[in-house]
Amino acid sequence: MEISLKGRRALVTGGNTGIGAAVVKALASAGAKVAINYLNHKKEAEDLVSKIKAKQGDAFAIRADVSQPDAVADMFKKVDQNWNGIDILVNNAGIDGKRAFSWETDINVWKKVIEVNLLGAFYTARQALKRMISQKSGVILNMSSVHEIIAWSGYSAYTASKAGLGMMTRTMAQEAAPFGVRVLAIGPGAIKTPINKTVWDNPESYQDLIEKIPLNRLGKPEDIARIVVVVVSDIGAYATGRTFYIDGGMTDYPDFARGG
Ligand code: NAI
Ligand code: BGC
Repeated sequence: MEISLKGRRALVTGGNTGIGAAVVKALASAGAKVAINYLNHKKEAEDLVSKIKAKQGDAFAIRADVSQPDAVADMFKKVDQNWNGIDILVNNAGIDGKRAFSWETDINVWKKVIEVNLLGAFYTARQALKRMISQKSGVILNMSSVHEIIAWSGYSAYTASKAGLGMMTRTMAQEAAPFGVRVLAIGPGAIKTPINKTVWDNPESYQDLIEKIPLNRLGKPEDIARIVVVVVSDIGAYATGRTFYIDGGMTDYPDFARGG
């Protein structure tokens, strides 16, 4: 079975680091043209562009803060100028916030997590849907988390944002289905990236995290990127409106391996 995204026009938010960078590489190697959105670290985005172009692919880097609707609108205008539309949007940009109990957290930090993870995904999805609905094709993939369904003390904004993303995915999928447009989400477990470096960098918290994963290892960004390519491709043509958990078994609540 061959997976081809040849000629598909893709945009990946937060595409210069971690899971996003792996998704960019995987989409490009399947033949897609990729617009790499970034907020900081321009060089990492430009290096990815160079690598894709060196293999005769098509890519460009584009700075935008996804929590700003005007910046998002401008970003889509630039995608239109280059490629006259979009076929695949990967809403990957996200932040964890600062660990604090809900009754102690700073309201502005809480709001920012929602603004990036939920509103940001809404702003970009809205722009993509306008284009996809009129061309009657396209796929939106939202990067959710196991924390769409697993509570996480100290991270109420993050869990709320990902739970919201899950239901936004289902509702947009229902709205867009009559037009041949799919909307999906992936819920990664613990993947080794900059977002959770403080956890995997410390032997004690690393061990604690590993015990929450039945497959007994952290995920690699490529573990997620491969699934993204499958579900956004025509192989995933019948999949819409669901979050697929790719988590080494984390959502299977591993403590239940020992009684219950
Ligand atoms: P990361 O920190 O490498 O990636 C997050 C990206 O989002 C960065 O490139 C960052 O610059 C970008 N970003 C943040 N705010 C932005 C904004 N306002 N506008 C544009 N870009 C912005 O970490 P990672 O792990 O690759 O995270 C990617 C996504 O995966 C996030 O949505 C995260 O919630 C999700 N995720 C990560 C898991 C993990 O264990 N690493 C597990 C489950 C979900
Ligand atoms: C978070 C990571 C965390 C993982 C598993 C993700 O959504 O961004 O920081 O390691 O969930 O708890």
